[in-house]
Amino acid sequence: MRLDRWLTTLGVCSRSEGKDLIRKGRVTVNGTPVTDAGRTVETESDRLTVGGQEVDGRTVRHVMLNKPAGLLTAARDRKQPTVMELLPPVYSAIGCMPVGRLDKDTTGLLLLTCDGELNHRLLSPGRHVDKVYLAEVTGRLTETEKAAFAAGLALSDFTALPAELEILEAGERTSLARVTVSEGKFHQVRRMFAAVGHEVLTLRRCRFGPLELDPALGEGQWRELLPEELEALREAARMP
Ligand code: URA
Repeated sequence: MRLDRWLTTLGVCSRSEGKDLIRKGRVTVNGTPVTDAGRTVETESDRLTVGGQEVDGRTVRHVMLNKPAGLLTAARDRKQPTVMELLPPVYSAIGCMPVGRLDKDTTGLLLLTCDGELNHRLLSPGRHVDKVYLAEVTGRLTETEKAAFAAGLALSDFTALPAELEILEAGERTSLARVTVSEGKFHQVRRMFAAVGHEVLTLRRCRFGPLELDPALGEGQWRELLPEELEALREAARMP
């Protein structure tokens, strides 16, 4: 990538400001001032400073976020706050996008990546990447619902693939369950419970494919994926 483009891709400055900073020798690459705006850089490994400040120049990043309720899962929205507001602006600037969607009221594990191919493959219906949710629902869950989930529930517009329902607590008024689904249709878990007569009160995703939500992340907190987590994810997505 060209040096001037690197600065704008990272959201450090506008193209013209970048050219100006470069011309004035205010930008260093690997410790050396570079005055050629067209100089080719290695974005993932070259070290960058702008005006004496170190800048993390990586343009490919992958994030695990513990989504709180109340935020939209979207790259941007004109009216409502989105999950991107929890991350520094550079993540939007470099094109980090949520992998699939969690409903506004759903909490828990949301992945974000700049890698469009990985994102696409993780969501592709053919790959059946498991997602695990903890759901608190109205009423008492029984073996009947468990069997219905396992058989594949017929919803109004599609029949859900067989899903695992593990009943953790079954009370008179509410129950707690762990649900594993291998697809990600709109409102899928809520609709599956609704189809067997239970309303979802709270929904939290605790696993996406091989990755568990890091228990150290409180709601609204995030961190980048560890190299071994990214590797496991790429394997689940069957990346070449
Ligand atoms: N299923 C739902 O119904 N909602 C979510 O946010 C995720 C899965």
